[in-house]
Amino acid sequence: MSFGLIQLMEKSQVAQVSSRVQHLLQPFSPHLEASFSAWKDPFDPIHNTNGYINFAVAENKLSVDLLLEKLKHCRDIPGSVLGYDDMRGSEPFRKQIANLLETYFFHRSVDADGIFCCAGAGCALDLLFNCLLEEGDGVLLPAPYYPGFIHDIEGRARCKPVIVEPTGNHFRFQLADLDKKLSECHQSGQPVKALLLCSPNNPLGFVFSREELENIVSWTRQNGLQLIVDEIYGLSVFSKSSKMVSIGSVLEHLGNDVHFVWSFSKDFCMSGLRAGVIYSENMEIRNALRFLPYFCGVSGDTQFALTKVLSDSEFVQSFIRENTNRLYETYRVHCDCLDKMGIPYVPSEAGFFIWMDCNKYMSSRTFENERAIWQSLFEKAKVVVTPGEVCQSTQPGWFRCCFSAASPEAAKVAWNRVEQVMSSLSVSKNDPESTRM
Ligand SMILES: Cc1ncc(COP(=O)(O)O)c(C=O)c1O
Repeated sequence: MSFGLIQLMEKSQVAQVSSRVQHLLQPFSPHLEASFSAWKDPFDPIHNTNGYINFAVAENKLSVDLLLEKLKHCRDIPGSVLGYDDMRGSEPFRKQIANLLETYFFHRSVDADGIFCCAGAGCALDLLFNCLLEEGDGVLLPAPYYPGFIHDIEGRARCKPVIVEPTGNHFRFQLADLDKKLSECHQSGQPVKALLLCSPNNPLGFVFSREELENIVSWTRQNGLQLIVDEIYGLSVFSKSSKMVSIGSVLEHLGNDVHFVWSFSKDFCMSGLRAGVIYSENMEIRNALRFLPYFCGVSGDTQFALTKVLSDSEFVQSFIRENTNRLYETYRVHCDCLDKMGIPYVPSEAGFFIWMDCNKYMSSRTFENERAIWQSLFEKAKVVVTPGEVCQSTQPGWFRCCFSAASPEAAKVAWNRVEQVMSSLSVSKNDPESTRM
């Protein structure tokens, strides 16, 4: 082979992808691979009783039937839907979303000009990080967190997640934890420009109170930080004694430094339709966002159907009521099973998750043992959960269970399998460390 040809081959091997995406060239983590293989062999109570039961993907399968029925009457598209429209989302779509936010989140008027539609909440976060922050800027992210946030922060905007370790009860962070992290960053020279909050919280299932949100906003303002609040589970508050408190209802104006994110993926069980929302009052961000959704807009067909869904306010109200009832009932089924098995968990009031402590199956609290448990659950019980390690849990042994991803009947089968597999593993405890709740 000639020298020239070798040189050419080497060049073509080196130059396959740009430097911008080099950091994405890593394999999926084992727990994501596990979810993909579980999808290929799903549990069915009649046709595949030995299939996988997947509680690792944040989806709500409990109310899909209600939406499928409704969508049957919402897809009679006119020809205009096939053409270009406002890249932020069509006017009727943004007006309906503004109306939804006014009624269920902000409890005050919402300007449809501040609404930007794009392909999901992940996309909304990516757009905001790109518009608000420079490459390398830090985003404070309280742990344990939704693992996808890392990708949303780093993937394209090339910002840096700065993990805040919680010291409060039930893994809740306190302002002192934010202070501590921020001063560490000041000392190390890491610039920090934003705080990302998730309420209702994935994975802990709590809703921030009004007072907590007020204190957090004062804190971010004192420190000159942007605040991004992801309220993607805002209509999925299922506890009878809890209420959603949106950042939009706490602040009369969001101002230039507070930005709201929501999506149809969770509260309307439509993660496949890819429809997310940004609401911002920052005029420069509004101007920048007039152009960017061109790259990641919601299809005209989907906008048309969702406009029709939202314009039926009676349907929306009864759907939210029925969906939250189903979430509550399914949550209770899981709690009963966990109680019987003696697995402690953080009580949840909203969203799709139970944060549970499997320390009783571990000889000692290590991430190595946590991985071994996860492996047994996946391979032997064919039950998939998310290991706390990927949510950056500060304590090994915790797992996230997305209880809305399967029916209550499947839940009973799953916990039965888990109990059988786990009781066959003999655990000799040498670490009496108590659970921190
Ligand atoms: C807190 C949170 N934000 C954003 C997303 C991504 O949502 P979407 O599918 O709308 O991009 C998820 C998905 O699990 C989530 O849990």
